[in-house]
Amino acid sequence: MRIKIKKTYSFAFWCTAIITAFLIAVLLFVGWVFGKPLDFEIILSIIFIQFVFTFFTIQTRVEIFIYSRIKKIYEEVKLFNLGNLKKSSVTTDMESFSAEVKKFAEQKQIEIAALREREIYRREFLGNVSHELKTPIFTIQGYLLTLLDGAIDDDVIREKYLHRATKGVERLVAIVKDLDLISKLESNELHLDKEQFNLIELIQGIFDQLEMRSSMRGVNLVFDKPYDVPLLINADKERIEQVLTNLIVNSLKYGKIGGTTIVTIESYGHEKVLVKIADNGEGIKEEHLPRLFERFYRVDKSRSRAQGGSGLGLSIVKHIIEAHDENILVKSEFKKGSEFSFTLKKVK
Ligand SMILES: Nc1ncnc2c1ncn2[C@@H]1O[C@H](COP(=O)(O)OP(=O)(O)OP(=O)(O)O)[C@@H](O)[C@H]1O
Ligand SMILES: [Mg+2]
Repeated sequence: MRIKIKKTYSFAFWCTAIITAFLIAVLLFVGWVFGKPLDFEIILSIIFIQFVFTFFTIQTRVEIFIYSRIKKIYEEVKLFNLGNLKKSSVTTDMESFSAEVKKFAEQKQIEIAALREREIYRREFLGNVSHELKTPIFTIQGYLLTLLDGAIDDDVIREKYLHRATKGVERLVAIVKDLDLISKLESNELHLDKEQFNLIELIQGIFDQLEMRSSMRGVNLVFDKPYDVPLLINADKERIEQVLTNLIVNSLKYGKIGGTTIVTIESYGHEKVLVKIADNGEGIKEEHLPRLFERFYRVDKSRSRAQGGSGLGLSIVKHIIEAHDENILVKSEFKKGSEFSFTLKKVK
């Protein structure tokens, strides 16, 4: 085993050696000047006493100096637990001390980078929120001002503008509700109301609700095969309905007119099922896939907005699935179609 010699010892030794060499030279010089060199024993005794005294003085002073300085650094940056700081370890083990400081600096660098990223994200988020709110607010304002400017006297226009303003208010309410849900999901405030329910029945119900919308776009909403036996799931029914509705509505909005949306349910291991929602629509380019679940992320902004989308849907979907400790995946081929799939726990 390699014995660790205190760095301060070697420092003190070399300083003492230099001083001793100087002292020997002085003693020899003095002897030579006075023509009477000192006795060898006297020189040896002086040098010995000087060596021991200088060595221990330098060693202890340096150690106290280093320890007090490093202690100050520890206190100032609250680096580590002060209880871990021992005089001996600081002065013997400079390498581990510098390694600890380096590690600390690296950790701080990572923290700073994360904070910077969060700051950019926050700024982007605020910009997106105000942008999304601006559009319906200005629409409502426009209709109300026109009504006040005299249009209110025309029965037909009054009715039409009030309806349009109401649409704007509904859009605002929808955005605020989505934002409220996202913030609850992100701060883990949302309580899941888990219950047992039949997934097939839930999906069939969504198909029925969306019948008008799908027939308007000529989209065929179907299961991949008949599911005659009920499939019991343990999850928050209302939230899972929200997930399925968003994914199916997306397939209608971004699928092609006259296309098909197929819902498939497969077994996934012993305890889970995998639900897939696939369309043969416009698809998504690979470069967009990593950011698809981010708040407000839209592939084609103008198209999505024209469809009344704010880009919050998939972010909510992912949060809900993750709150259930499950996963969601997307596969997509540009111009061919997209497939969103997520897992759910079966009732045993
Ligand atoms: N099935 C799909 N096919 C092609 N693109 C899709 C599909 N689903 C989602 N996208 C793209 O992902 C974007 C984000 O979808 P998301 O559901 O988060 O928002 P949205 O539908 O635009 O708005 P919201 O759901 O908040 O009303 C969409 O704007 C669209 O560009
Ligand atoms: Mg959506």
